[in-house]
Amino acid sequence: MRLVLAPMQGLTDDVMRDLLTRIGGFDECVSEFVRITHTVHSRATWLRYAPEIAHGNKTFSGVPCTVQLLGSDAENMAVNALAAVRFGVEKIDLNFGCPAPTVNKHQGGAVLLKEPDRVFRIVKTLRDALPEHIPLTAKMRLGFEDKTLALENACAINEGGACGLTVHARTKVEGYEPPAHWIWVRKIAEAVDIPVTANGDVFTLADYIGIKEESGCDSVMLGRGAVMVPDLARQIKQYENGEPVRPMPFEEIMDWILLFVDLCVEKEGENKYPVARLKQWLGMMKKAYPHADGLFQCIRSIKEISGIKNALREYEFQIKRTH
Ligand SMILES: Cc1cc2nc3c(=O)[nH]c(=O)nc-3n(C[C@H](O)[C@H](O)[C@H](O)COP(=O)(O)O)c2cc1C
Repeated sequence: MRLVLAPMQGLTDDVMRDLLTRIGGFDECVSEFVRITHTVHSRATWLRYAPEIAHGNKTFSGVPCTVQLLGSDAENMAVNALAAVRFGVEKIDLNFGCPAPTVNKHQGGAVLLKEPDRVFRIVKTLRDALPEHIPLTAKMRLGFEDKTLALENACAINEGGACGLTVHARTKVEGYEPPAHWIWVRKIAEAVDIPVTANGDVFTLADYIGIKEESGCDSVMLGRGAVMVPDLARQIKQYENGEPVRPMPFEEIMDWILLFVDLCVEKEGENKYPVARLKQWLGMMKKAYPHADGLFQCIRSIKEISGIKNALREYEFQIKRTH
């Protein structure tokens, strides 16, 4: 089995990828999408999206990182993909799932699923342009408005020459509304001859068991669930290895929160970034942990990183004392 950390723009940036892959359980991760418009990105741009490139395309803990491209102009995407490879990228994924209106307005992301021929042409153009040893994969939703073209799009990706496909089991119109239609991942996996990764609504170990069973896939991608429950991948690995599943207590998660803040400060300095990222993360974690909610309430009005750090230490002291 294989666990992949999902690309999530504005959420799984390099710091979050670093942290979650240190906690463990992931076999791979994917960068946030790099949008391709009319220009050819510089080395600095690729490195900004995926600093892992400078470290053999691996996170600090050695988990491989794929770089994701989003665009609609096949030729320009190919030129950019080749440049990325020249700068050290070793694996490329294509985004056929982004629902953002600005992206769709420019014919990128999920809107391409209305035209399987274009999907095919983009995959084929990139496959033909890239050196053979560079794996090219794709990620799709089930469709734009409905699922009528789901199999056709998956086959287009397959025939275009991709060597793997991740399926987020929802249409664009379905947004992030539950449920994800895991059974459709099975239909797609049966229609193509490349490995398929199942994705959508895995928030617990039970969800993981469910998606595996319904989709028939051994490879699963975790998105929001991996941020809300930062040891979810580790729990899944423990389960798969036949070990006792030991969810991480919040006191231990506190140590990872402190490291996260340090890593954010290391990246951007003591500015708004660490404060915003921590609030964003706690805002998601509070759905899973009452303590994350308590901590969120403590820091929500603090704007300076020094104040945040004091509040974190104080909260850590309190919860360690009460346990
Ligand atoms: C905030 C956010 C940003 C996302 N950004 C991307 C992205 O850059 N590329 C991509 O392929 N999918 C992106 N997605 C979709 C996720 O990769 C994933 O397919 C989706 O969240 C469903 O998985 P989940 O239910 O496990 O979260 C994003 C999702 C969210 C919530």
